Amino acid sequence: MLEQLGKIEQEGLSALDIVDESEALESWRVAHLGRSSPLMGIFDQLGQLPKEERPAIGRQANQVKQSLEAKYAAKIESLKQADLRRSLETEQLDVTLPGRNIQSGRLHPITQTMRRIYQIFAEMGFQVYQSRDVETDEYNFQLLNFPPHHPAREMQDSFYISGDFEIDNPVLLRTHTSPGQIHAMREYTQENPQDPPPIRIILPGMCYRHEQVTTRSESQFTQVEGLAVGKDITFSDLKGTLSDFNKRMFGMQVRSRFRASHFPFTEPSAEVDIECFVCDGKGCSVCKRTGWLEILGCGMVHPIVLQNGGYDPGIYTGFAFGMGPERITMLRHRVEDIRYFWENDLRFLEQF
Ligand code: DAH
Repeated sequence: MLEQLGKIEQEGLSALDIVDESEALESWRVAHLGRSSPLMGIFDQLGQLPKEERPAIGRQANQVKQSLEAKYAAKIESLKQADLRRSLETEQLDVTLPGRNIQSGRLHPITQTMRRIYQIFAEMGFQVYQSRDVETDEYNFQLLNFPPHHPAREMQDSFYISGDFEIDNPVLLRTHTSPGQIHAMREYTQENPQDPPPIRIILPGMCYRHEQVTTRSESQFTQVEGLAVGKDITFSDLKGTLSDFNKRMFGMQVRSRFRASHFPFTEPSAEVDIECFVCDGKGCSVCKRTGWLEILGCGMVHPIVLQNGGYDPGIYTGFAFGMGPERITMLRHRVEDIRYFWENDLRFLEQF
């Protein structure tokens, strides 16, 4: 049996010598140190040996086992080293390869336009005034001098929230940011109603209309309203402020045009166009061959509206304006369909 152990050790060691990868090493372990290996067979037989032979054989068997185990551990280590050497040689890192792009988020195009608008008006001394999305008929229409049967007040054109359209003062989603004018004036006049401070604010926010959704109109869109109230404010201030805004927004060379128009809450009222920056006013498909692009509505605050806000129209005057960031963004970036803005398709948003 001692002889047999010698052979087991010899064979095990020489078989281990030629092992050169980890799968073969595992087969070697099963064959030479595993449950059914010849070495384990010897351990199994120990019990049947005559008592006096057992210690010598047992000691020898343990020595063989330790010797094989030690060589096995050394082999694991040397294979690991060889693996490392191989991968260092074959898998060299090419530090000149361009890196992978990191996907980063960005501001929504409408947010970008809004922030540009805030910045331009901030430079002219206008503060941002936040006003509510949910309004009453009184604020959204009545106090802004809409006559009782104005078409915008129809059930079909606005999202009414509470109750019956026929009741006195139903609640609705604001159809424009103009009701904020009344909220702001009433807040400004609260402290000193006899001599309220001047106002210079813009009022941004979401507006809602019960409209057929098309490439040009959405049922939800943003507006930025503007309001200036003071003692000597004239139509020239309005023209200067808005012409300057157009230059800063669309380019210093851009020309503005004021066309007479009508809004219930301003008198006189105007719509403002800029010379088409696509064709420089020559006429193209973007400006529908007119050479001009409509940008916003504006006017001198109607005396009734000033009065509703708490400003004495005998002493105070003011101007107001309202613009659509979606339309401005569409013109600046040639976006053809307003519905893209709230669909949140990354293929669209990633272009900004
Ligand atoms: N509220 C108007 C609209 O939704 C926009 C507007 C026009 C606002 C003229 C104004 C203004 O303040 O003076 O169409």
